[in-house]
Amino acid sequence: MQDKEPTMEYFRDENARKIFGEVFDERTVKAVHVLAQKGYIDALEFLVNAGKEAHVFKAVDPAGNARAVKIYKIQTTKFKHMRAYIEGDLRFKELKKSRRQLIYQWTRKEFKNLEKFTEAGVRVPMPLAFHENVLVMEFIGGKKAALPLKEKPLNAKFLRKRIAEEMAKMVLQAELVHADLSEYNILNFNSEPVIIDCAQSVLTSHPRAEQFFKRDVQNMANYLSKRGQKISAEELLAEIKSFKGKI
Ligand SMILES: Nc1ncnc2c1ncn2[C@@H]1O[C@H](COP(=O)(O)OP(=O)(O)OP(=O)(O)O)[C@@H](O)[C@H]1O
Ligand SMILES: [Mg+2]
Repeated sequence: MQDKEPTMEYFRDENARKIFGEVFDERTVKAVHVLAQKGYIDALEFLVNAGKEAHVFKAVDPAGNARAVKIYKIQTTKFKHMRAYIEGDLRFKELKKSRRQLIYQWTRKEFKNLEKFTEAGVRVPMPLAFHENVLVMEFIGGKKAALPLKEKPLNAKFLRKRIAEEMAKMVLQAELVHADLSEYNILNFNSEPVIIDCAQSVLTSHPRAEQFFKRDVQNMANYLSKRGQKISAEELLAEIKSFKGKI
């Protein structure tokens, strides 16, 4: 493979190049370069979402497969809150002191969580690679990215059943609590829910796992109720538990 210089040549789209140049440092450009050299990225096509913590780009690999590239900003505003989700997770004993190292750990954590979810059969984007603050995963969508439920809701009755099943697979099979489940972090892809944004997910052994799980259940119960499927957190919990032994 041709050895490309770590430059902005990965950006096919002028606008994406401009945004990237404004938000990311040279090291991040190099991290993209490393993943490109390994054959995971050929070009970044356009910006899908500019968030507070991360930017998500649509990319293609050398074979032309669509990829999502999530790049965490080093200068993130929610830096402090990350610690609560790393501390107490047995997989990440060593808590990094520098902001940069913590963000790298956060990226690795999202990758590992996506791996565990995928193995457990939870519908999440398949993780492909990561390097420093850059994560490459399956792109959920067609020409454009699939929209979150907030913008493109699913049939509420269908979602109720599917989300209970996915939550059961998450806690019982993957032994992870998503910890930020909402209509913003579930995409509607071909009328099926795809769960995203998994960096903060923690092992069920985490001291605050139960608290995070209750919050997820409550959020989903509130959302379903708002969408016309009146359900309490207790009822949703019972529906999640009913999948025990069946998934
Ligand atoms: N694998 C993917 N395929 C397609 N689109 C994706 C993928 N992952 C993320 N996105 C898009 O990027 C958006 C933000 O992703 P995500 O929720 O993982 O990041 P975030 O850190 O929560 O960003 P924010 O700071 O905006 O909350 C999603 O709503 C979705 O539009
Ligand atoms: Mg999100």
